Amino acid sequence: MTDPDPADVAIVGLSELSATVIRARLLDAHDRFWDTDTRTLHDPVWFNQFGGFGAVATTPGGEDVGYVLGVVTADRLAYLHLLTVREDRRRAGLGSRLCRWFDELAASTGARVVQAVARPDDGPALAFSSRLGASTHLSVDHAGPGADRVVLTRSLPAVG
Ligand SMILES: CC(C)(COP(=O)(O)OP(=O)(O)OC[C@H]1O[C@@H](n2cnc3c(N)ncnc32)[C@H](O)[C@@H]1OP(=O)(O)O)[C@@H](O)C(=O)NCCC(=O)NCCS
Repeated sequence: MTDPDPADVAIVGLSELSATVIRARLLDAHDRFWDTDTRTLHDPVWFNQFGGFGAVATTPGGEDVGYVLGVVTADRLAYLHLLTVREDRRRAGLGSRLCRWFDELAASTGARVVQAVARPDDGPALAFSSRLGASTHLSVDHAGPGADRVVLTRSLPAVG
């Protein structure tokens, strides 16, 4: 059963979960989260080695309704690899909450900038990111010949 109240959704760090179990669960529900096939972007490394920077949004009934995967590099760049909200839960602030969770964790480890990458024709992702204050840069051939991408960059507040 679906819980209709977004305030009841909990953000749970992946480090509290079994990497193998949560990855399989999210991939099983893939088509409810994504319009295109993103399975290859869900490499186990994002759940095992980098899982400390990821989180899943879960209803009291145990349904996964959004997730974020990312990592902070040694030069203090926070890279937001994947962010998604289940199709029936969008436009209720959950994407923003997941982003905030990642930003706060990244900033607490010393990151000063967060970057994500989107396809140039991904209107919702670009609108969402610009609402959060991201600047955009078209990166030609970013993902290979003919595969341009938009690099989205936001500043993070200094912590402490
Ligand atoms: C992008 C995505 C994560 C946004 O999640 P969400 O929970 O719907 O986002 P929020 O409710 O926090 O939206 C915050 C603001 O972003 C903007 N926004 C979000 N989705 C939008 C859309 N489809 N079209 C235009 N603006 C949008 C709006 O300004 C929105 O505020 P409003 O609802 O008060 O107008 C979601 O659409 C999604 O999962 N898309 C598929 C995966 C994807 O593209 N991921 C890449 C993310 S960079």
